[in-house]
Amino acid sequence: MTHEQTHVLLTGGAGYIGSHTAVALCEAGFIPVILDDFSNSHPAVLDRLTALTGRTLAVERGDVKDSAFVRSVLDSYRFQAVIHLAGLKAVGESVAKPLLYYRHNLDGLLSLLEAMQASHANCRTVVFSSSATVYGRPQRLPIDETLACAPESPYAFTKLMCEQMLGSLASSASDWRTGMLRYFNPVGAHPSGLIGEDPNGVPNNLMPFISQVAVGKREQVHIFGDDYDTRDGTGVRDYLHVCDLAEGHVAAVNTLLGGMPSFTANLGTGQGTSVLGVLQAFEKASSRRIARSVVSRRAGDVAAYFADVSRARALLGWRAQRSLDDMCRDAWNWQQKNPDGYASTQDSRSGLKTAQAPNLGAAAFFSHAL
Ligand code: UFG
Repeated sequence: MTHEQTHVLLTGGAGYIGSHTAVALCEAGFIPVILDDFSNSHPAVLDRLTALTGRTLAVERGDVKDSAFVRSVLDSYRFQAVIHLAGLKAVGESVAKPLLYYRHNLDGLLSLLEAMQASHANCRTVVFSSSATVYGRPQRLPIDETLACAPESPYAFTKLMCEQMLGSLASSASDWRTGMLRYFNPVGAHPSGLIGEDPNGVPNNLMPFISQVAVGKREQVHIFGDDYDTRDGTGVRDYLHVCDLAEGHVAAVNTLLGGMPSFTANLGTGQGTSVLGVLQAFEKASSRRIARSVVSRRAGDVAAYFADVSRARALLGWRAQRSLDDMCRDAWNWQQKNPDGYASTQDSRSGLKTAQAPNLGAAAFFSHAL
């Protein structure tokens, strides 16, 4: 299929998963248009995307919760599909600030869908960034999509409620096509080291924390419990290279545009790896010893979690290609080249992780709302 004129709206497109998805869309011949408010992303990513793709990507700066703004964006291009990634994503923060999460994540999707419905552009294809966290404590492993969902955090509830919103819409009219992608644990970075994960403050997640210990920014990794019922006692997860995840989004768009009805699919590798397993792989990739100590379990963590990925293979023709060693190598390459994330770059200015006027470099930048 050729996509030379096929525009795809990418909400949250300047973020970690969004930026890698933008590259994958370009590689597949699509024209991504990024919609982002830069509240949890850095404008320096735009120059990096230009360097990687050889293109000046269109960027619409604004809030996805602003339906009029989104509608004006939809009416300015001829989109064939929307990939909705914009949203808040920290489980712990969602427990502390539930209303913030319900407001942002539910309003964001609602306003997007209302804008799509009202727009003359007639785009009715949506790929949604969901999460394996909707399954809660799994009753069996590997986790397949027929398992009952049992969210435990406000974040997980918002993801499931968004899925339900999309499901209701798809049931209401056959022209709506929705793809729900339940991500397992995305890690790593683009192999160029130009784009990667740039967490705010102390990383919550394992791989960025390990990277920061390896580069000398933090003293040691805290292993959250070694008394789980797993092969070495530490928590087991299904780590997935972010470039594989990005390609999963492209496969989902292709599948829906090819006429497949709405679907829900896990995106993972199907392989479980323990915390000690990740540490070992990272030490190999970085040729560094990673200091660690075992501390008590983190509240809310489950022992083991990994995907049955057969549905994604069957429906999307997609499977993860990259190994744990690739994930660690690329995470380490990114961390070494960008010890302070995007703030390490010469073209960036400190403090731009808020919606201030960014240095947009070569990117085409439009602001309908601000
Ligand atoms: N862990 C540590 N030390 C750390 C951080 C994590 O030992 O400093 C352990 C955790 O206990 C867990 C594993 O490493 O066993 C992975 O933890 P992460 O925080 O990296 O990831 P989670 O599996 O807890 O959660 C991630 C995302 C969620 C998403 C979920 C879906 O953060 O948003 O995957 O599987 F919902």
